[in-house]
Amino acid sequence: MPTRIIALSNQKGGVGKTTTAINLATALAACGNRVLVVDFDPQGNTTTGFGIDKRALAHSTYSLIMGESSLAESTVPTQVPNLSIVPSTIHLSGAEVELVPIMAREGRLKEALSTMGEQYDYVFIDCPPSLGMLTINALVAATDILIPLQCEFFAMEGISQLFKTFDIVRKNLNPRLEVLGVLLTMYDKRNNLSHQVVEDVRAHLGDKVFSTIIPRNVRLSEAPSHGEPGLIYDVKSPGSQAYIRLAAELMQRLTQPALTRPEAPAPQVAA
Ligand SMILES: Nc1ncnc2c1ncn2[C@@H]1O[C@H](COP(=O)(O)OP(=O)(O)O)[C@@H](O)[C@H]1O
Ligand SMILES: [Mg+2]
Repeated sequence: MPTRIIALSNQKGGVGKTTTAINLATALAACGNRVLVVDFDPQGNTTTGFGIDKRALAHSTYSLIMGESSLAESTVPTQVPNLSIVPSTIHLSGAEVELVPIMAREGRLKEALSTMGEQYDYVFIDCPPSLGMLTINALVAATDILIPLQCEFFAMEGISQLFKTFDIVRKNLNPRLEVLGVLLTMYDKRNNLSHQVVEDVRAHLGDKVFSTIIPRNVRLSEAPSHGEPGLIYDVKSPGSQAYIRLAAELMQRLTQPALTRPEAPAPQVAA
């Protein structure tokens, strides 16, 4: 299978992009996949979530897209076997502005990743909470988009803007870009609203929505302060178990394209 480059994108903050990047990547690596996570948010929460000390870093996603370091130089191993990361630091926040005068600025990340050859099965790009130049770079580099949606009242707000951005990128910059799926996160079974949101989102987005739903689980939110993915901090917790199911569902979606991907032509039925 060619490398899947999956951008975790939603311009809203706090919807579970970073938590999904860390734990889905960990679950896929635990199944033997070779995985790279690109922390493309200047806040660098994915980097800290893997217990990486930002002060000790020579290179980062910033130096990578500015052409100051190669992908190999910018990549560091994590505590998870098969899982590496290009870490992020606050320097990346300058990139939105510094990229403006640069030629082909939308393609910087794609170009930087083009040197990876067949080293990885999955690359996850954790996007910042905006639709600026960093997110555009992620969407140009990606093969697929995964959209986390928090199970709360305004879950769908901003979604049409997000899809509009995808369409613009697809038409002008990256025709191969596909929506891999929408992931419902922070589901609270004691809250009727959570249930309602799931129904609404499924009604609007149909089979784009993953059947796996990530529950609200305090173990997932505690894990980053220990510098560990939730799956390592407490693999038995309901949150970790949900990310393991999500990894299985994702691998299945990607290996059965004709059956599960709405973009693909319908399977031919023999007469
Ligand atoms: N399923 C979950 N259960 C409980 N807390 C969660 C869950 N997913 C994320 N969080 C917490 O919610 C906050 C926002 O999540 P995060 O993944 O950082 O979102 P984003 O990257 O979209 O801003 C973080 O404090 C995170 O630990
Ligand atoms: Mg984040």
